[in-house]
Amino acid sequence: MTQPDAIRANALADIAACESSNALEEQRVALLGKKGAITEALKTLGSADPETRKTLGAALNLLKQELSEAIDSKKSQIAMLELNERLANEKVDVTLPSRPSTRGSIHPVSQVIEEITAIFADMGFAVAEGPDIESDEYNFDKLNIPESHPARQMHDTFYLQGNGDGKTLLRTHTSPVQIRTMQGGKPPFRFIAPGSTYRCDSDLTHTPMFHQVEGFVIDKGIHMGHLKGCLIEFLKAFFELSEVPVRFRPSFFPFTEPSAEVDIGCSRSKDELKIGAGSDWLEVLGCGMVHPNVLKNCGLDPDEWQGFAFGMGVERLAMLKYGIPDLRTFFDSDSRWLSHYGFDALNIPSLVGGL
Ligand code: DAH
Repeated sequence: MTQPDAIRANALADIAACESSNALEEQRVALLGKKGAITEALKTLGSADPETRKTLGAALNLLKQELSEAIDSKKSQIAMLELNERLANEKVDVTLPSRPSTRGSIHPVSQVIEEITAIFADMGFAVAEGPDIESDEYNFDKLNIPESHPARQMHDTFYLQGNGDGKTLLRTHTSPVQIRTMQGGKPPFRFIAPGSTYRCDSDLTHTPMFHQVEGFVIDKGIHMGHLKGCLIEFLKAFFELSEVPVRFRPSFFPFTEPSAEVDIGCSRSKDELKIGAGSDWLEVLGCGMVHPNVLKNCGLDPDEWQGFAFGMGVERLAMLKYGIPDLRTFFDSDSRWLSHYGFDALNIPSLVGGL
């Protein structure tokens, strides 16, 4: 028997005997791999006489082709068998009744975003969106936060590889939607922009991903009175109180001037926090009059157009309204937590139905 015939006789039998793709792969390596039988036989050709080299070389190459075809066809056969086996094992009886104990519910973050949206929709605000992956230009520069500005450090930004120029990031706030909306349309504007935001921060009161709702109004003759009226109305509706003490405390944001933080009155006794009355204050959001530089950066003339903006943290508002004590539990995906704090999917928040 010639050398190729001897290899063929064993090889075809070994391939046929394989029962799994792993075993077949072992056979392929043993025959055609770098140190496989065929490869080793081909290596001996160098020292053979010219006539043998020619005939044996041709025969080995033919055999190589024959074996790789045999391996390929066995491969599809095994793949089919393995698929059938998996399908049989993973069979799901779709006619089984659902288990009441695993009924889903609406996450408090989704619920609160819906509530905020319903309140502002009633005041004539549209809903805008922007991408989670932003450029540093939209997240910072155009919002009047230049490269050297200390606010950039405060934001603990997650930078992405992007083009390798360090200019792509996960947005640290929803404020870049202000820029995108102004650049994409003509004033007047009145919208809110809910969405995910990201900061490289993780402790008891911070998670690397959280949610904000941005609010933005641009029109002619807009002043701080409009801002105050709008936010006071919002807070009353959101906390479902007919009166709520609200305090606008001077603050600083690079994209607003003047800027304020908004506190609501509350009382804290031992374990209980009561919103709407008492001698304590609780910070709930940031706001201000849109900075003339931001308007100019988007091609608007600040002498003609004015506006206000605000930004609020969704988890924070959810914790205050629904008495959820620990921020980190929001993202544990614990179904017991969700069935306790979650909302009925059919209970869609609306002002008429009560939030
Ligand atoms: N972007 C701010 C932050 O994430 C929140 C904010 C404050 C947004 C004031 C605003 C604003 O639009 O006017 O900390």
